[in-house]
Amino acid sequence: MMSEKLAEQFDSDKVAAFNAGLLHDISGIIPNSKRISFAEDLGITILPEERMFPMIIHQKISRVIANEVFNIDNQQILSAIECHTTLKGDSTKFDNIVFVADKIEWDQKGTPPYLNNILKSIDLSIYHASYAYIKLLINQKDNLKVVHPWLLDAYNDLTNKVN
Ligand SMILES: [Fe+2]
Repeated sequence: MMSEKLAEQFDSDKVAAFNAGLLHDISGIIPNSKRISFAEDLGITILPEERMFPMIIHQKISRVIANEVFNIDNQQILSAIECHTTLKGDSTKFDNIVFVADKIEWDQKGTPPYLNNILKSIDLSIYHASYAYIKLLINQKDNLKVVHPWLLDAYNDLTNKVN
């Protein structure tokens, strides 16, 4: 699993990375059309951007399922699951490992168009790899359905970290 490989490369907890990798998309069991009402029932804070584009709420729902159904209480795993799609400001190394793994091992056919940007940066640090990906998104943000505020926070935070 990619999250495990990156955890090894960046000297982090491999077992935690494996568990985060297994559970990050567990909320895929909830159909997109039911995600907002499900999240409301769980008491999750729903941002306007998430109402407009409910796919993004899956990261927060996965965190709750990992915690309440799979009894994961390791905060590093829960945090990484919760931000694996958008990242966030003040992210940990482990958050970045799970985030980048999710982008490298994407859920569509073929090779991600941004893969080279990530791979060119990853030798510098895992933060550079996240930054390379997010910078591409921000540069074409007019084409995005929504810009999640956590993504913007991550961009600002990483801009400081890598420069
Ligand atoms: Fe996901």
